[in-house]
Amino acid sequence: MSPSTPMDQSNSLPCHVGIVMDGNGRWAKARGKGRLEGHKQGAKVARNVVEWAKNFGVRQLSLYAFSTENWDRPKLEVRGLMSLLSILLPRTLPEMMQNDVRFRVLGDISPLPGSAKRAVENAMSETKGNTGMDLILCLNYGGQQEILAAARTACEWVAGQDDRESAWKALTPDRFRSMMWRHDVAPLDLLIRTGGERRISNFHLWDAAYAELYFSDVYWPDFSKQDLKDALNDYASRERRYGKTGEQVSS
Ligand code: IPE
Ligand code: IPE
Ligand code: MG
Repeated sequence: MSPSTPMDQSNSLPCHVGIVMDGNGRWAKARGKGRLEGHKQGAKVARNVVEWAKNFGVRQLSLYAFSTENWDRPKLEVRGLMSLLSILLPRTLPEMMQNDVRFRVLGDISPLPGSAKRAVENAMSETKGNTGMDLILCLNYGGQQEILAAARTACEWVAGQDDRESAWKALTPDRFRSMMWRHDVAPLDLLIRTGGERRISNFHLWDAAYAELYFSDVYWPDFSKQDLKDALNDYASRERRYGKTGEQVSS
């Protein structure tokens, strides 16, 4: 199998892959290092994963880099994560340009330190014309917060309609989704979580409704190209039924 074609059938390739990159802290601890060393190594892997995913033919890749709950970590770790972002993001620009990757963000970046915000905004503007793959960095992102923001927009939309009763009826899941932050990104097809935990931790709650879940015990800093390939191959073996029967799907 060539490295760029991990699956037998191209239609069994997920369009949108989301990764909860977990296990940096435990990886560092197991080596007697500080947590930030784990985050540094994790950032290297994230850079590699962007290239591997692009070469495998993934169209959209969401990487969970910082959750709304991660602000509750020790101040030093939060500061370290933010400076990693402002230092490393500009350095990854040449490879994003080379790989034709469009950098985007999901989450509220307004509370980020100025240097991190500038790095993010610059990466978005430099790469906006790229079409090979979308990299969606989830930063200060929470799935509940995203749904709540859409609910507010939906209430305002209904309140602005002459016939509110009809408006409520017209508020289908699709219309509601169009009010979410990154509604032009496809729903999640494959959700990978590394680090051994079996939970979603507020990642893509709405859009994971029919995602295939894949859990790996590998700590994120050890995640390899083969691990990504294994996840994609596992996805290719799944039957996505969306409520239908297996017979309906296979016919
Ligand atoms: C994930 O690794 C990275 C972030 C949440 C920023 P962790 O830092 O959660 O690693 P563990 O779970 O403590 O090992
Ligand atoms: C989820 O990992 C967030 C990111 C990977 C950015 P956490 O390590 O924060 O999740 P919990 O706290 O174990 O659920
Ligand atoms: Mg963790």
